[in-house]
Amino acid sequence: MKAVIPAAGIGTRFLPATKAQPKEMLPLIDIPTIQLVVQEAVDAGITDILIITGRGKRAIEDHFDKSFEIEHFLKARGQEKQLKQIQNISKLANIHYIRQKEPKGLGHAILCAKNFINNEPFAVMLGDDYYVCDTPHIKQLMDAHKRLNASIISVMQVPKPHVSRFGIIDGKQMEKNLFVIRSLVEKPPAEKAPSNLAISGRYIVSPEIFGILEGADTGAGGEIQLTDALAKLCKKQVMYAHLFDGVRYDIGTKMGYYKAFIEYALSRDDLRDEAVEYLKWLTNKITNGSFKREGEERIVL
Ligand code: G1P
Repeated sequence: MKAVIPAAGIGTRFLPATKAQPKEMLPLIDIPTIQLVVQEAVDAGITDILIITGRGKRAIEDHFDKSFEIEHFLKARGQEKQLKQIQNISKLANIHYIRQKEPKGLGHAILCAKNFINNEPFAVMLGDDYYVCDTPHIKQLMDAHKRLNASIISVMQVPKPHVSRFGIIDGKQMEKNLFVIRSLVEKPPAEKAPSNLAISGRYIVSPEIFGILEGADTGAGGEIQLTDALAKLCKKQVMYAHLFDGVRYDIGTKMGYYKAFIEYALSRDDLRDEAVEYLKWLTNKITNGSFKREGEERIVL
């Protein structure tokens, strides 16, 4: 199965950090977030990945390319461990690129993948979500897809007041983690949402989606929405939603990014002990009141 990673968005929520670099290159510690998405695909056994880029995204291509200068430099200094790490990035997968020429939304970005896909079901992995799962998130969907042989979308339960930030499904529960989708709606107001099952950033979609996207009108936010196209597809073919097993960080928001950054450090063998010590020290300082913001008595956790 091939995977498509849309990475053409401008990243306004992280300005000015994204003024001169792609938001997908913002790192968790020392790994750009897009590399974590690619690694998830690779861990699931995917070897061919198409990244949909746009203007100002050249750093992504450079990142997954071979870097003769850096390799030469590290070799000359005998820094073997770092050399291996850098070389491995360019060997991760067969990564292809195509540019979305106009920012016309996620549905339009996916349509740019049509010629790459070859009329087969394919995975879509959004880069604004970072997942910690025992089984890679996209692999969970691939396993379910193998069994069901139909389009399948990953969902998660969100608090009712948050539904307007997501695509929401209306589904009939078939198994503990599986629903047949009756309809989908992009970012509905809370009072109109059919459920609190929100589309998380992983999909396996049948190629009939392209015909629908080709004729699509703009939807929410004046963009061509993938959710609208999926809503049409689910009227023609059976489509499932799978409640994924794991933890999601919305790294497209500042707080989500901040939490992911800290917890990623805690997950790393080379950083965990020092990170824990530091957090204990910091928590202690905050609770004792010695870490104050101007005009505040103390910050209480
Ligand atoms: C996109 C999808 C939305 C989905 C969300 C998950 O929205 O359009 O259906 O729920 O990703 O992160 P975005 O966050 O790009 O606005």
